[in-house]
Amino acid sequence: MSNQVIRPARTLQGSLVLPGDKSISHRYAMLAGLAEGTSRLSNFSTGADPHSSLACMSALGATVQSTPTHLEITGTAGRLRQPAEPLDCGNSGSTMRMLSGLLAAHPHSFTLTGDASLTLRPMERVRKPLAAMGLNITLTDGHAPIRIHGGPLTAIDFETPIPSAQVKTAVLFAGLQAEGITSLSESIRTRDHSEHALRAFGATLTRQGDRLFIPGGQALKAIDATVPGDLSSAAFFLCAALLFPDANLILDSLGLNPTRSALLDVVAALGAKIRILNVEEQHGELIGTVQINAAPSTLTSPLKIEGAFTAQLIDELPVLAAVAPYTRSGISIRDAQELRVKESDRIALVAKNLTAMGATYTEYDDGLDIPGGQNLHGGIIDSGSDHRIAMAFAIAALRASSETLIEGADAAKISFPEFFEHLEMMCPA
Ligand code: S3P
Repeated sequence: MSNQVIRPARTLQGSLVLPGDKSISHRYAMLAGLAEGTSRLSNFSTGADPHSSLACMSALGATVQSTPTHLEITGTAGRLRQPAEPLDCGNSGSTMRMLSGLLAAHPHSFTLTGDASLTLRPMERVRKPLAAMGLNITLTDGHAPIRIHGGPLTAIDFETPIPSAQVKTAVLFAGLQAEGITSLSESIRTRDHSEHALRAFGATLTRQGDRLFIPGGQALKAIDATVPGDLSSAAFFLCAALLFPDANLILDSLGLNPTRSALLDVVAALGAKIRILNVEEQHGELIGTVQINAAPSTLTSPLKIEGAFTAQLIDELPVLAAVAPYTRSGISIRDAQELRVKESDRIALVAKNLTAMGATYTEYDDGLDIPGGQNLHGGIIDSGSDHRIAMAFAIAALRASSETLIEGADAAKISFPEFFEHLEMMCPA
């Protein structure tokens, strides 16, 4: 476990191109591995999580090669092979849940395992719909290891009980290979990268009202694609920009998918001037340049994040909570019980680390109230080996009155290995 010292900074200045989006990289890795032909993917995520998906796809028969500019994945043309060993999903819930759906129709035995954090996370949410499609799938006390004996699947009509893009994706990936037309509706709409990725690889997928339909028995074709920069990684720098009155940040080639970009509205409300330039669409995903400068906040009461807004911001809540004490009127987060079953209990760890820096707050089962206008001191931060907690409190540390030690800072490699390097370059002490 490696630690990192963060000293108070004077400003945030500079421009960045973020590594490829983690969510999109997972989906492209899995679909390229199932497709026929060789996909060429540029700006694939550098995070360990999407590389867990790549390693699993290669154990399932795909060929993965790195060149200096891109990844080449030669797919299995719809025939995943029996892996020699259990599939190691590492720390990645996306790999475990989405892959369960992808491999369900293949007539082999699969075991999906992961690290200590992943084996604590709930898997019943993915077992239930896949079992309803006829899959022989068993969990270990509600968790991984997951054991699957793949075989023919039948379509289902599914309502997602909790907002989860991973569960939606598992059902879509299984539905793609099932007999009949699978349909799905979400109580709260989640990120739609799977829908765009499936279409990019040649699948037919339709939407009627709030219901998606995917016919089974479809074959996929390889693509050439550039993965847009990861907005959830950019979130750390976007929130850091709120901390300095002369902040100036430019983010090029950033993913701007509307189901992911609620954070831009939040930082604008909290005191940032945002300009969006050069927007293009690639395989259904929006990509553009974002320029951020600090501006006075117009809020006079705490910013409320609840309901569907919480689901849209789920990965950005730790960093929003970490900078909330410095905002003018604070932030109130509710309906975020899902945060308790992420890579760590993110509500408990945010609370613990806010205390370590001298902040006041109120913790609820499903969120936190964090008053604004607070001054924090440095402290010892427990990352809980959770990448987003390590990075969130590195940002809070930039405006503390003394230095901060982030314990387990190397967890950042799960989604953003370059994070501390960029931070040092852009936020001089
Ligand atoms: C993800 C969906 C979200 C998110 C995770 C990535 C995805 O998880 O928190 O980091 O790529 O589909 P849930 O599906 O558990 O909400």
